[in-house]
Amino acid sequence: MNALRIRGGRRLMGEWTVQNAKNAVLPIMAAAILTEEKTVLEDCPTLSDISYMGDILRMLGCSVHMEGKRLQIDPQGLFGHEMPDELAKKIRSSIFLLGSILARFHKATVTLPGGCEIGLRPIDLHLSGLKQLGVRIHDEGGVIHCDGSAMKAGPVHFDYPSVGATENVMMAAALLKGETTLHNVAREPEIRDLQCFLNRMGADISGAGTHTIIIRGVRSLRGCVYRPMPDRIVAGTLLAAAAITGGSIKLYHTPTQDMYAMIAKFREMGCIITEKESSVALHAPERLTAFTQLQTQPFPGFPTDMQVQMSAIATLAKGTSVVVENVFENRFTHAGDFNRMGANVLINGRTAVIQGVDALYGAVVTARDLRGGAALAVAGLAAKGETIVENAQLVDRGYEAFEDSLNALGADVSRISIT
Ligand code: UD1
Repeated sequence: MNALRIRGGRRLMGEWTVQNAKNAVLPIMAAAILTEEKTVLEDCPTLSDISYMGDILRMLGCSVHMEGKRLQIDPQGLFGHEMPDELAKKIRSSIFLLGSILARFHKATVTLPGGCEIGLRPIDLHLSGLKQLGVRIHDEGGVIHCDGSAMKAGPVHFDYPSVGATENVMMAAALLKGETTLHNVAREPEIRDLQCFLNRMGADISGAGTHTIIIRGVRSLRGCVYRPMPDRIVAGTLLAAAAITGGSIKLYHTPTQDMYAMIAKFREMGCIITEKESSVALHAPERLTAFTQLQTQPFPGFPTDMQVQMSAIATLAKGTSVVVENVFENRFTHAGDFNRMGANVLINGRTAVIQGVDALYGAVVTARDLRGGAALAVAGLAAKGETIVENAQLVDRGYEAFEDSLNALGADVSRISIT
């Protein structure tokens, strides 16, 4: 286990270039097996989730190499349709392979996936979408066997706009003859990025970013070189880090048009934000003001992946902030740690009431999931004294060299190992 040691109390100042998005790269990696040709992803961040996904692809017979920041996936040796149990349990995105493996082999076997401990995360919506394409599904105690021999294009309706289910079914349908229309899909920007990638491979897909995606099946796809989109959540987390310290930073390589829900919240808290197409500057007041209400929702609503970081900065804001978590049920697990640092957070079901306090104090706290770990670090930046965030390896799932980015902006964060 390793930990982040944060010496709080420094105002963040300076500039940083944001990494590309984990949540764009993972489905794209799954989509790379829709062809037999090689794909190269440029400017790919070094993250444990991405390397686990690489391991899964290798176990299925692909050759996967990271050279510097270029991730090469060569699926020529792909032989397996059974997802390796051990690794699939580690990351939830292994489920995306269901769609692409089905498209290639017309059969697939997966174990129920793992991921962050932020909620139940069933896969019923994925399976329902695939069933609507004609896939026959048989569940054997957590091992899902899919028979896609009768798969065909057609209409698919989602009961809820799940990001992963939308992406999975897009991949499953890309090679089906005829037109597949996906209704009530998720509109997250990473889905638009997946559409761009698939179309670069030769697919014919439109509508990502709206409620309906239309997939006109093509006979085959080809390899390509692609640069995934920048990470809106990493950008938001760094803005939160600057905001809580009364700092002033500028971020480059930001998907600004996808960040308006966050930008509006920072403004409500008293920050001055100057945004351009691919950069955002934030200038924080000496003390933030509480927000009236933050409700997480599917895009373009406020992203659940930024909820804990905003809760962290609300702990020091003037007034009372109310947070309603509508997407994942277990995303308040860090409240106890915030309170250990001196915050005043009260949880009732899916609602958190955060009464801003005058100061936070360094403490030993524990990351329980990726974003929660980052949020504890954000709180530590403004706390008096030293904060230790244990289980920091969870943060490495989504933030590339997190401490480097914070230190480049003037923080004092180091990595320590704990035995
Ligand atoms: C993706 C993101 C994750 C983000 C989430 C919501 C990736 C790799 N991960 O996760 O960072 O927090 O979107 O923006 O892109 N659900 C079901 N049945 C299903 C699928 C989902 O009930 O079959 C529920 C989930 O439990 C959750 C909600 O739907 O409550 C949203 O999940 P979903 O949009 O599928 O998120 P993920 O794709 O898992």
